Amino acid sequence: MLQDVTQLSDNINRILNLARIQSRNYKGNFSIVDINQAVKQFLKNNNHVFQNCEINIHNPSGRSFSCRIDLSLFEMLLMNFLTNAVKYNASEKPKIDITFEPKKRELHIHFEDNGIGFDKNETKKIFRKFYQAGRSDNMSAKGSGLGLHLVQNIARIHKGKVIAESKGIGKGSVFTLILPMGFGD
Ligand SMILES: Nc1ncnc2c1ncn2[C@@H]1O[C@H](COP(=O)(O)OP(=O)(O)O)[C@@H](O)[C@H]1O
Ligand SMILES: [Mg+2]
Repeated sequence: MLQDVTQLSDNINRILNLARIQSRNYKGNFSIVDINQAVKQFLKNNNHVFQNCEINIHNPSGRSFSCRIDLSLFEMLLMNFLTNAVKYNASEKPKIDITFEPKKRELHIHFEDNGIGFDKNETKKIFRKFYQAGRSDNMSAKGSGLGLHLVQNIARIHKGKVIAESKGIGKGSVFTLILPMGFGD
């Protein structure tokens, strides 16, 4: 019961956030942020949500990355990526690897999970509003099919994008957020 109420309020918040972001006069609250630090802090603050999982951050270049972001939208995006990685996961211990990869003036942040993955032909569809792979009953209280649509809108507002990849069902997924860089770094 309590879980259903939480789920419902999560869904309502998603709808409100989406409407807010898509409204023409949405300006956002942007500032230059150390992304590595922001992700670490987010995981620390939300430790309780991911207690049963193993989340590792990898930064092979050893650099720190400054991007111009709206921190609360960025955190919303992180929450959607990470909760999906745990939710669509049949492993005993969900594992998520977050990797920072600089590419010219872009920062690619990969979120790789050991979850159920998805079929190649779902790659585009999963970003659609209300779309949930393998579900015909979209009125189910569990999830909304809005998370990735919201994520895509958040990426756009940052002049970035998101890419979804999976080697197939049962083979995990990689979601990549691409953000423009070059602000004071
Ligand atoms: N990490 C993931 N691994 C496998 N499938 C995923 C993952 N993230 C999202 N999906 C698929 O994409 C669909 C849409 O995701 P989302 O928009 O967050 O909606 P919801 O989580 O509410 O179902 C999900 O229903 C699921 O089928
Ligand atoms: Mg979701």
